[in-house]
Amino acid sequence: MRDRIYFNEVVTRDGFQMESRFVPTDQKVALINELSRCGFAQIEVTSFTSAKAIPMLADAAEVMDRITRVPGVAYTVLIPNLKGAERAMQARPPDEFNLVMSVSETHNLANLRMSRERSFSALQEVIERFGASVPMNVSLSTSFGCPMEGAVPYQEVLRWSQRFVDLGVRGLTICDTTGMAHPDQVDQLCRLLQERLPEVRLTLHFHNPRGMGLANVLAATKAGITHFDGSLGGLGGCPYAPGASGNISSEDAIHMLNAMGYDTGIDLVALLRVARGLPLLVGHEVSGQVVKSGQISDLHPVSQSVRDLLATAG
Ligand code: COA
Ligand code: ZN
Repeated sequence: MRDRIYFNEVVTRDGFQMESRFVPTDQKVALINELSRCGFAQIEVTSFTSAKAIPMLADAAEVMDRITRVPGVAYTVLIPNLKGAERAMQARPPDEFNLVMSVSETHNLANLRMSRERSFSALQEVIERFGASVPMNVSLSTSFGCPMEGAVPYQEVLRWSQRFVDLGVRGLTICDTTGMAHPDQVDQLCRLLQERLPEVRLTLHFHNPRGMGLANVLAATKAGITHFDGSLGGLGGCPYAPGASGNISSEDAIHMLNAMGYDTGIDLVALLRVARGLPLLVGHEVSGQVVKSGQISDLHPVSQSVRDLLATAG
């Protein structure tokens, strides 16, 4: 058996924020409860963002209050500013905060309506206020490229990472917000960050608009990364990033890693059962492949004519 790989399921946050049809609170709670029994290390339940910016997640507090928490699963929420953090603490507090800002100035302005410096100060305030009671992770959006600015230098990702590490955060999530990363870039950035920031937990967050998502997961695992975000069915994307579309599908990534002998801790049969219900929940087809094609271990029956040939062959 190879390394243990840890998955954070983000479908009800990154996945749902991009959906146009509101998924009722009851159905969100039921989905999270089902996902909780599949073996995920972590579930990103929702975000405490402005309801004007992300109407789909306006019920964040109610969802946090109503889900059944399974021991061993860490429940996290996305937080863009102090108001979001205060709202999250007034509901049933999560096991971790996932603070968010972009490495690209333009995307930060588009998504969070403030400069990177202002975001940093806001998040610093969140860490100072709540860091003693809730562990902190920071998601750095557009780390592999910005759809409006283009290439993002590794040094910029390192600079923002270092600033948050200096504030004592436990983890960083390096996000390919619009699927611009390619495997060589992933290999280089993952190695650089691990070398310079050995004390911080690194999670990789990939999207798949250009079909490079699973190749990037592979490159990251080969570079020593053991934590990934994934989204059931491959739903997801940032509504404020032009051209954004689905995350890597959790079940496809887990299926690949299982096949290669990694221990993901996931009950894939149970996860695929949950994935099968997703199109009905969101009202459209989803991009996950394994749920349509079956696992590589699912064999097809042999027809009688081929049986006859087998019997006479050799
Ligand atoms: N939760 C709920 N409401 C919030 C809030 C939060 N975290 N932060 C601000 N608000 C409210 C304010 O109270 C204010 O309400 P009012 O109009 O009733 O007075 C209103 O939103 C505007 O506040 P302001 O501070 O000016 O925010 P803004 O309009 O500049 O938006 C963000 C800033 C960060 C709140 C908003 O851009 C946002 O939520 N973005 C999230 C985008 C996202 O989740 N993208 C995908 C994930 S990467
Ligand atoms: Zn994302």
